[in-house]
Amino acid sequence: MRKMVLLAAIGLVALAAPANAQGSKELVVYCSVLNEWCTLMVQEFEKKTGVKVTMTQKGSGETVTQLRAEAANPRADIFYGGVGDQHMEAAEAGLTVEYRSPMLAELHPWARRQAEQSGHRSVGIYAGALGFVWNSELLAKKKLDEPKCWADLLKPAYKDEIQMSNPSSSGTAYVTLATIIQIMGEEPAFAYLKKLHANINQYTRSGPAPVRNAARGETTIGINFLHDGVAEAAAGFPLKVAGPCEGTGYEIGSMSIVKGGKNPENARAWYDWALTAEIQNKAKTVKSFQVPSNMKASAPEQMPKLDQIKLIDYDFARYGSGVERKRIITRWEKEVGSLPK
Ligand code: F6P
Repeated sequence: MRKMVLLAAIGLVALAAPANAQGSKELVVYCSVLNEWCTLMVQEFEKKTGVKVTMTQKGSGETVTQLRAEAANPRADIFYGGVGDQHMEAAEAGLTVEYRSPMLAELHPWARRQAEQSGHRSVGIYAGALGFVWNSELLAKKKLDEPKCWADLLKPAYKDEIQMSNPSSSGTAYVTLATIIQIMGEEPAFAYLKKLHANINQYTRSGPAPVRNAARGETTIGINFLHDGVAEAAAGFPLKVAGPCEGTGYEIGSMSIVKGGKNPENARAWYDWALTAEIQNKAKTVKSFQVPSNMKASAPEQMPKLDQIKLIDYDFARYGSGVERKRIITRWEKEVGSLPK
């Protein structure tokens, strides 16, 4: 027992020490998970280390745009959360630094693969599958069928009933485009997205927004990560979720250390700590139900199990490339986003 107390104390000292060693007591985090989870992380880290954390919450696409704009004089130390494709893009653009956390050995292979594919400039912190979320009360009231397949979303009966986010700002929307392209091939995918446009009532700035709007009855269906739908269902809203029958893509939510950040020691302390099972297990207490990357952390019971969803062999190397992302989003804006309603 005494030994455990001692080890725990050493653990605390190890986390607190870097901040003191370099004299910095600050850390700036750009956070792309739900605000509740970002806030929990900040409070827990401050409590553990005494470091003062300044946090800004934004979608993953927007965060990369901000990191690019600030590259000459970086403000952030950590880019926490958000889809892995955007972290790959940041790595490729040299916006983040290589770091091999001693925690890597505790992570699922998919989380370590994200580290390897990004040249160790990023690492997986959670995974989640893309799919459909709908308000079951509204759907019944409007006498609409439950959406089961990507193909179903083109039904004329769904006109203006579907919401998705905008790929320029949202990682969720980018994963949606990349998923549809990987399932259908690029030309049929764009033909599909043009038809889908007729049924979309709004392209939101943030990825999780369609889920929140479906919960409040402002849209019937959302294209979202399923864990965001499960979160609102757990909060008591009449939401249901499903993975599409043709198969679907998924995200490896990731984390990176920003190049040129002012507090690198504290950034590494955050990074190692954010990969522990202890803190990853707390995400579900604030209704973030992604699958955690630490093998010792428990996957939330509320979530549909990833092995029960038909997942595609998502090509993270290709769709994480900044050039490819820019090309796909530019094409979407020109051929789909700008179409009249
Ligand atoms: O739960 C929040 C979440 O869906 C994360 O799983 C995901 O990485 C992030 O939001 C994506 O947000 P956005 O689409 O706004 O970039």
